[in-house]
Amino acid sequence: MTIKGSGPSGAVLQDTPADDGTTPIVELRAAGKSYGNIRALHGVSLTVRPGQVTCVLGDNGAGKSTLIKIISGLHQHTEGEFLVDGRPVRFGSPREALDAGIATVYQDLATVPLMPVWRNFFLGSEMTRGPWPVRRLDIARMKRTADQELRNMGIVLDDLDQPIGTLSGGQRQSVAIARAVYFGARVLILDEPTAALGVKQSGVVLKYIAAARDRGLGVIFITHNPHHAYMVGDHFSVLRLGTMDLSADRDEVGLEELTNHMAGGAELAALKHELAQVRGVDVEGLPEAEDLQATAPVPATEEGTS
Ligand SMILES: Nc1ncnc2c1ncn2[C@@H]1O[C@H](COP(=O)(O)OP(=O)(O)OP(=O)(O)O)[C@@H](O)[C@H]1O
Ligand SMILES: [Mg+2]
Repeated sequence: MTIKGSGPSGAVLQDTPADDGTTPIVELRAAGKSYGNIRALHGVSLTVRPGQVTCVLGDNGAGKSTLIKIISGLHQHTEGEFLVDGRPVRFGSPREALDAGIATVYQDLATVPLMPVWRNFFLGSEMTRGPWPVRRLDIARMKRTADQELRNMGIVLDDLDQPIGTLSGGQRQSVAIARAVYFGARVLILDEPTAALGVKQSGVVLKYIAAARDRGLGVIFITHNPHHAYMVGDHFSVLRLGTMDLSADRDEVGLEELTNHMAGGAELAALKHELAQVRGVDVEGLPEAEDLQATAPVPATEEGTS
């Protein structure tokens, strides 16, 4: 790693080529990862540009987490190339990725449920005032800043003193997104942020994904749900068994095709055939592959948090 961070954000890159709008912030070229003998990921190419949402879809075990672990500095790729601002990198830790402006919001958010919202917002990067040895937490400034930053993202909470554990899942994800934006993320990785949420709360999170994109961040949105992906995505990459099954811009793929890629029409047929051998399972009730897009739930978006 040659990139150095600076400032509280750790995201301002020094000594990088001017962004002429063509260099992606993050790029994988035929990247892969093996865990010993297990080849979890192979030949995956992906670009992340400012102000765009790149969706990574795939079934369980498809390699989604492995992919984001490489980008977020938890693991290193064992094949291909990984570039940040057009330069090959190999992060040794998540801290190095963060210093390059790559922030990851994990599904089991690293928050302390009993601590107030504002305290969680600054967790690990608290503002202080006064000289050492009488340096104290600058509570007033942290509260003011957290309030302002949340409002900037359109998130209005009644009381920042309430424990973050009392917020809904969608609101907590939103706070985590606003936090990453404030601390200077240029790339935001969201690992299945809507997986455990209901329709309404998913809408809340999708809204803030769009807000982060509008603030110029490059977003990598990992999801199982093609409907959620299609509501905010500019580019879609579908992984299957560790390889790229589909990589298409929004104007190259429709929701139906995306859903079919995800649902795996051929696999559904095989499953139906298999289940037909099991007594007591009514395969006639299973949808046909082409019916899937009609039966999958369509979440509603909503205005404001609730
Ligand atoms: N640390 C590891 N050691 C060995 N194999 C691993 C490791 N992590 C993941 N794998 C394997 O790599 C493959 C891809 O796993 P990965 O977790 O990336 O999938 P995923 O798409 O995130 O799945 P899910 O939707 O279940 O989260 C799987 O076959 C998994 O068993
Ligand atoms: Mg995963």
